[in-house]
Amino acid sequence: MADKMINDAVAKIRTKGPFKAEIALVLGSGLGNFVETLDQTTRLSFSEIPGFPISTVEGHSGELVHGYLGDVPVLVNSGRVHFYEGYSLEQVVYPIHILQALGAKTIILTNAAGSIRKDFPPGDLMLIDHLLNLTGHSVYQDNQEPESIFDPQILKRASQIAENESILLKVGSYAGLNGPSYETPAEIRFLRLKQADAVGMSTVHESMAAFQAGMQVLGISCLTNYAAGILDQPLNHEEVMETGRRVREDFAKLLTKLVHSLAT
Ligand code: HPA
Repeated sequence: MADKMINDAVAKIRTKGPFKAEIALVLGSGLGNFVETLDQTTRLSFSEIPGFPISTVEGHSGELVHGYLGDVPVLVNSGRVHFYEGYSLEQVVYPIHILQALGAKTIILTNAAGSIRKDFPPGDLMLIDHLLNLTGHSVYQDNQEPESIFDPQILKRASQIAENESILLKVGSYAGLNGPSYETPAEIRFLRLKQADAVGMSTVHESMAAFQAGMQVLGISCLTNYAAGILDQPLNHEEVMETGRRVREDFAKLLTKLVHSLAT
C-alpha cells in the first residue's frame, strides 16, 4: 500500500485524538466488546480514515480506539475486513500498516474460530503457534515464508501468564481459509489430517503483513464452535456470536495481563 496514503491517513487520525501506542490489538467477530474495558477512550470510525476498508459482517463494529489498560496505552481496531468481502489483500492488511505507523511494535490479533478437536471445546481460548495459510494467496514477498512467525519466547510467556491467572489457554495451529461459507465435514477431516487445531477466515494475512513489517505478532483464537462434522449438528453464526459473548471475561483478563506483561 502506498506510503503516501498511510501518511495521509495517519495525519488525519492524529487530528482526531492521541492515537499513539506501542501495543495494538485487532478484535475479531463478537469480541469488540473488549474496548469497554479500556479507560479514557478516544474513538474514530473507520469510515473517517482515508483508505480504510469497511466491514460488511455482523459483529464487526468498525472503529479505531485509543485507550488505557491500567496505565498502558493501547490502540485497538475493533473490527476487520475479510478477503471474502471482496477486498484485495492489500486492503485487508492496510489497517495493520496504519497501526504500525501510529507506533505499534507489537500486535495481538484475535479472531473467532471453529475448533477441529474434541478436546478444544467451544469457549476455550487458543494461542496460535503456527499458521496454515490455505487461502491460496499471500502478502509475503520473500520467496520463502518463515517457519513460524510467532516467537516461541513470547508464546511461552503468554502461556505462563494464562497459567498464573488460571485461564485455560490451549495452544495450536490455525488454518486460515477464504470463506465465506463454513467448511464441509470432509474439509474439516482434511484439515485435521494436516494437524490444524482451529479454522477461520482471517488473521493469516494480517499476521504475515505484521511480521514482514517487523512487528512482534501474537494470535489468539476464541473457539466459538466445533467445526463442521466434529459434532453431529449444523453450526450457525448465532452460535459463534453467543460463545464470543460467553468468554468475554476470560478473554479480557488474558488480554489485560498479556498487554501488561508485553509493556514491561
Ligand atoms: N469455520 C470457519 N470460520 C469460523 C468458524 C468455523 O467453524 N467459526 C468461527 N469462524
